[in-house]
Amino acid sequence: MKMDEQTLGGGRRYLQETRYSRRAWGPKERTYPRAHPFKSYPEAQARVELPPRPQVAPADLWDTLARRRSLRHYVDRPLTLAEVGALCWATQGITLVERSFPYRASPSAGALYPVETYLAVHRAEGLSPGVWHLNVLDSALDLINPGDTARPLVEAGLTQSFLGSAGVVFIWTGILNRAMWKYRERAIRYIFLDAGHVCQNLMLAATALGLGCCPVGAFFDDEVERLVGVDGQEEVALYLAAVGALGP
Ligand SMILES: Cc1cc2nc3c(=O)[nH]c(=O)nc-3n(C[C@H](O)[C@H](O)[C@H](O)COP(=O)(O)O)c2cc1C
Repeated sequence: MKMDEQTLGGGRRYLQETRYSRRAWGPKERTYPRAHPFKSYPEAQARVELPPRPQVAPADLWDTLARRRSLRHYVDRPLTLAEVGALCWATQGITLVERSFPYRASPSAGALYPVETYLAVHRAEGLSPGVWHLNVLDSALDLINPGDTARPLVEAGLTQSFLGSAGVVFIWTGILNRAMWKYRERAIRYIFLDAGHVCQNLMLAATALGLGCCPVGAFFDDEVERLVGVDGQEEVALYLAAVGALGP
């Protein structure tokens, strides 16, 4: 089915306009500035160091893949700091430094790592309730928005209640110019693909740890962005995932 310009919605138009094709290959007119590859919060109200490499029991990959499910019912047990540290490492941990360049556990188009990680902590040992930012280089969590965020997160997530009963909710944003300076408009595709990889790593790590995890794509973008304090223009909400302890 061939659609004309009139019937093409924004999403389809984006896909058409950002296709790589041999016919239209070459320099493009629009350029974007390069964004800093790491975000940090020196003014954070608290910092908790995470182990640079998690100390967890080994798990069988094939068994973990077979057991992974989106799980939405959690018990009250707080997550341990070791669990939170292992989850953060599985998603964004630095796993290789080559010629001084740090590569992470999740792949990223052009190794540009446009995805930022925030944790809305409801119940986790050693971490007070609030929104924490993952400092990837330092392997640390910085408290940037203290207080109970369970209710606003459930509201932001279209009243999906497991966003409030989770121990922590991962919130991923994308810093557009980290990828757009190189890939221009096509970068948006890659940023969402990056986020998918990050979330899959989280789900597999949660499964290996015996925790429940559920990805969430249904949320009011501006409400999530307000919780983590980003502008919704240059840094935008991408994806959430709840993680909680499971019953016996
Ligand atoms: C991009 C994406 C967005 C999703 N958003 C939600 C969501 O908002 N709420 C929810 O309960 N599950 C959400 N899910 C989980 C899916 O419902 C789930 O992956 C699907 O039902 C398959 O089940 P499984 O993950 O257990 O294999 C999402 C999954 C993906 C990949």
